Amino acid sequence: MNDRFLRACRRQTVDRTPLWIMRQAGRYLPEYRELRARTDFLTLCRTPELAVEASLQPLRRFHLDAAIIFSDILLPLQAFGCELTFDPGPRIAKPIRCSAEIEALSARPMAEVAPYVGDAVALLRRELSGRVPVIGFAGAPFTLAAYLTEGHGHDGFPAVRALRAADPAALDSLLEKLTALVIEHLNLQIAAGADAVQIFDSWAGILSPDDYSSFALPAVRRVIRSMRRDHVPVIYFAPAADHLLELATSTGADVIGLCWRTRLDLARRRTGGRVALQGNLDPAALLAPPERVRECALAVLDAAGEEPGHIMNLGHGILPETPLASVEALVAAVTEPEQWPV
Ligand code: CP3
Repeated sequence: MNDRFLRACRRQTVDRTPLWIMRQAGRYLPEYRELRARTDFLTLCRTPELAVEASLQPLRRFHLDAAIIFSDILLPLQAFGCELTFDPGPRIAKPIRCSAEIEALSARPMAEVAPYVGDAVALLRRELSGRVPVIGFAGAPFTLAAYLTEGHGHDGFPAVRALRAADPAALDSLLEKLTALVIEHLNLQIAAGADAVQIFDSWAGILSPDDYSSFALPAVRRVIRSMRRDHVPVIYFAPAADHLLELATSTGADVIGLCWRTRLDLARRRTGGRVALQGNLDPAALLAPPERVRECALAVLDAAGEEPGHIMNLGHGILPETPLASVEALVAAVTEPEQWPV
C-alpha cells in the first residue's frame, strides 16, 4: 500500500509529501461530466458501482495518494425523513426551524437509510486492492444543522444563528441528534474499510470563537471521541475559520485542514505540533498558467517546512472550471521532489 498519506496523518516521516485534492471526483473532469450527463447526482451517490467509478476517475489520470468516497455530507439527513435534492446545490424540502420540529425528529438506522455508502467504501477498497488509502467523510454536526435549518446554502446561514439566539436548548437538542447520526455514519464507513475519515465543518467559520466553543466544537469533540476507529486518522476541515484554529486543535482530530486564508507556516506554531496539517493552495491558483500553478504549489510546500505531518491539498474544493493541465502541474510539483528548489 502507498501509505504516505496515512503516515503524514500520523506525523511520521515520508519519502515525499502526499497529495490528494478536495472534490477530486467532480466536474473539472470531462469523464465525470459525461457520467453526470447520463445519471443524476443522487443516483450516482446511491449506486455503489457508479460512485466507485467517480472515485476512481481522478486516480486514473493523476498520481494522487488517496481516494475519496463519492457521496455527499447531506445524505445522512435522509435518516430524519428529509427530502433532499441537488440542483447542483442542495435543497431540503422542509427545513427544521423550531423546537417542536426538532423534538419530532427521529432517525432511522443509517445502515438502512444509506447502505450504499458502506457498500461503495467496500467496493472502492476492493477495486483499489490496497494501492492507495480510502477516505470516508461526514459533515460536522453544526454544518449539518446550518443546512437543515436553512434548507439550502445561504451566505452566513442566518437560520441556525437565529435559532441559537431564540432557543439555545433547541439547537443543543438538534446538535445532539446530528452528533449521533454523524457517529453512526462514520462508524459505518470505517467498518466497511475506510482508512481515514474527514469531517467537513464547512460553515463553522461563521461563528464567533465563543459560540464555536460553546456548541459547535463540543459536538465535533463528541463525534471524534465516540467513533469506533482504532487507528483510523481523523481530518477536521473548517474553511474560513482562521479565528478558530487554536480551538480546532482540541477537537481530537489527528489532522487539521486549512483553507488558503490561513498562513501554513504560522499554523505549524499555532497548533503546537500536536496535529498534522492539510492544505492549503488556493483553488483559484489552478486557474493560472501551469508554470504559475507550479510556483504556487512549491510555495505551499515551502511554507509547510521540513517537519513531518503535512498533506498537500487545496484550501477548498477544486473549481469546476479548472484546466486539467493545472492539476498535472500541481501533481508534478509535489511528486517530483528532486526538482524542488533547495
Ligand atoms: O471528490 C470529492 O470530494 C467527492 C465527494 C464530495 C461531494 N461533496 C460530491 C459533490 C464531498 C467530499 C462533498 C462534501 C460536501 N458537500 C461539502 C463539504 C465540502 C465543502 O465544499 O465545504 C458540502 C458543504 C456539501 C454540500 C453540497 N453538495 C454543495 C454545497 C453542493 C453544490 C456544490 C457546487 O459546487 O455546486 C453539492 C453537490 C455536489 N457534491 C457535487 C459533487 C461532485 C456537484 C454535483 C454535480 O455533479 O452536479
